[in-house]
Amino acid sequence: MTKRTISNAEEKILEKAAKYLPGGSNGNTITQDIVIRNGKGSLVWDISGNEFIDYSLGSGPMLIGHAHPEIISAISEQISKGSTFFGLNEHAIELAEKIVQTVPCAEKVRFASTGSEATFHALRAARAYTQKQKILKFEGGYHGMSDYALMSMAPSKSINYPQAAPDSPGIPDSIQSEVLIAPFNDLESTTNLIRQHQNELAAVITEPFQRVIAPIPGFLEGLRTITTEYEIPLIFDEVVTGFRFALGGAQEYYGVTPDLAAFGKAMAGGFPLTAVVGKTEIMDYFDSESGSVTNGVLQEGTLNGNPIAALAGLTAINILSRENVYENLFAIGNKIKVSLQDMLDQAEIPANVIGEAPVFDVYFTSNDIFDYRSSQKADKDKHAKFTSLLLERGIYKNHNKFYVSIAHSQKDVDNTLNAFQSAIELM
Ligand SMILES: Cc1ncc(COP(=O)(O)O)c(C=O)c1O
Repeated sequence: MTKRTISNAEEKILEKAAKYLPGGSNGNTITQDIVIRNGKGSLVWDISGNEFIDYSLGSGPMLIGHAHPEIISAISEQISKGSTFFGLNEHAIELAEKIVQTVPCAEKVRFASTGSEATFHALRAARAYTQKQKILKFEGGYHGMSDYALMSMAPSKSINYPQAAPDSPGIPDSIQSEVLIAPFNDLESTTNLIRQHQNELAAVITEPFQRVIAPIPGFLEGLRTITTEYEIPLIFDEVVTGFRFALGGAQEYYGVTPDLAAFGKAMAGGFPLTAVVGKTEIMDYFDSESGSVTNGVLQEGTLNGNPIAALAGLTAINILSRENVYENLFAIGNKIKVSLQDMLDQAEIPANVIGEAPVFDVYFTSNDIFDYRSSQKADKDKHAKFTSLLLERGIYKNHNKFYVSIAHSQKDVDNTLNAFQSAIELM
């Protein structure tokens, strides 16, 4: 395990980043002192030539690994025919068909370019359909960058439910009263809130697996029951879990079908394409020509259904549809997840490795983690130190999760466990 060294070339380009980018970043940087040069399979390299096992995967999209030869070949052919047309193209239509065949709630599909847009448009469609305004989301739940999504995503103080707290300056005060906040995994409190606000609620939106917190048995099922009872659309944000937990996403994996869902990341093999999918009776609100809907919900986008991204998505889904792909992904992910817990236990460091095999992380606490507030009691300094020790040892991960790909190998696992051991000794 060689320690990372930074070349003059990398230092120079970092100086430029500091000069021209606010905060020296694109707003999505794991650390401000690495410039990634290339990736292949489960590995990435920085400009200085240091190699990392990649557990960030571009923050999720690269589930099939970087620079997959089948993706390169498919999109190279398409690029030579043109990159974007702002109209129908065969690949986007075929991708929509594939999604409908694969995802339990998907009867129709509307493409967008980012996960933030997909969740935002799902909420708009639900408002148009119900002719109501408010949404209920869960504290700590992440749904992207819209004003509605940035409510109590990472509040610094605990305030009483269902009061929402904005996560960023620049959000109009008026949005705050349109969003109700509930505690994830607490079905009783959530049910009471839904009952109280049934006449105002246009939608309940949730990550079925919130960040790295799995739903406790009965929670998603209970949400489904209560939202059905009051005819409030239930939206699953599957931007992380889609095509990762199973081909049909978390809704297949946990066996609960929402009315609408947002997909992104792994769905497009590393290209900017996302989707709102769901029941025809709601999805038809995106159709301004439909006889059943007088005023269609506007959802235009220059790159909606872009042919290169759509073909990359089709190719990625093809690769993921092969035999034993998910069995292997879960076996590799579980091995790393369980080994990390064992090693921390042996070192007598209080820690909880939580999540599912394809997405997990460690929290430095011996307490159970089941919602945002319980997650905040963990030792964040220890976590930051562990992440940075891992980075020095060739492990590149997001600050809040490990993403595992189908390209990670047994050799990657062995090297990762060595890095864990070395980092744990210094904790
Ligand atoms: C659950 C979830 N929803 C929505 C988003 C937003 O997606 P994007 O970054 O493509 O806008 C993310 C991004 O990480 C996410 O994790």
